[in-house]
Amino acid sequence: MKIVESIPELRKELSKLAHPIGFVPTMGYLHEGHLSLVRKAREGNPSVVVSIFANPTQFAPEEDLENYPRDIKRDLELLTTEGADVVWIPTVEVMYPEGYQTWVEVESLSTMLEGSFRPTHFRGVTTVVAKLFNAVGPDRAYFGQKDAQQAVVIQQMVRDLNYPIEIVVCSIIREDDGLAMSSRNTYLNENERVAARCLSRGLFQARDAFLSGERRAETLTQIVSDEVKAEELADLQYVSCADPETLVELDGEVKSCLISMAVYIGKTRLIDNIILGVS
Ligand code: PAJ
Repeated sequence: MKIVESIPELRKELSKLAHPIGFVPTMGYLHEGHLSLVRKAREGNPSVVVSIFANPTQFAPEEDLENYPRDIKRDLELLTTEGADVVWIPTVEVMYPEGYQTWVEVESLSTMLEGSFRPTHFRGVTTVVAKLFNAVGPDRAYFGQKDAQQAVVIQQMVRDLNYPIEIVVCSIIREDDGLAMSSRNTYLNENERVAARCLSRGLFQARDAFLSGERRAETLTQIVSDEVKAEELADLQYVSCADPETLVELDGEVKSCLISMAVYIGKTRLIDNIILGVS
């Protein structure tokens, strides 16, 4: 496994790889969710490239970039085990050199859901992912359904900018008790960790209601919000029932939907979602 930092070093290693190249962009502190993407990439491609970069432009000033968990040594051990071919760990100077001033913005989709609470977030994501795509030139790129809106925004960017890259969206990997895996789960203390189960509990109850025939958007979101509001340590920021492709909020009877949510557990902001009615 080759570990590179600069773009020239990356290009040199890329030139030795057979196509198709499967690419997994990450911010590091890898867990089973990330590794499931690496495994999917490994299964489907002769070459696998992973990037690790905690991208400052997708964090707002009051967000947690400084404290974002890091453990490069452990990440590299895990990626060696998974059989990645190249790991690219650029510095902030490599990605955003002095005088940097170009942005990639997916307009409307970036303002919805998460974007309404984190107005600069998706501009940072699309800019860095475009730069990562330009440098790596993958044939396929792997993203998690955990960040449902991110996957939709990236797919739009790929269509709009004619990237010849297939976007593969992989299922959410959860802890045994249902909590969606996330690097941010490490911020939770013991009581908060127990409280955090309310997100998936609410989503699974909505799924069970849907499977029993409940189709009203308002009822499905109510089920989720009741479950979260019953948890003392949880503070619900939003729960949405939206079209899985356009992210437009739905009301009345739905055939399929993306139920997504953000919840503060203490100071930690967690997101989770489920897609209903799509096989
Ligand atoms: P990061 O949060 O490190 O996540 C990297 C990838 O892992 C994303 O595609 C994310 O959706 C996926 N992922 C995280 N938790 C998951 C889980 N429990 N199950 C399945 N997949 C999971 O998302 C980012 O980084 C950044 O925004 C990035 C795309 C790298 C751009 O900076």
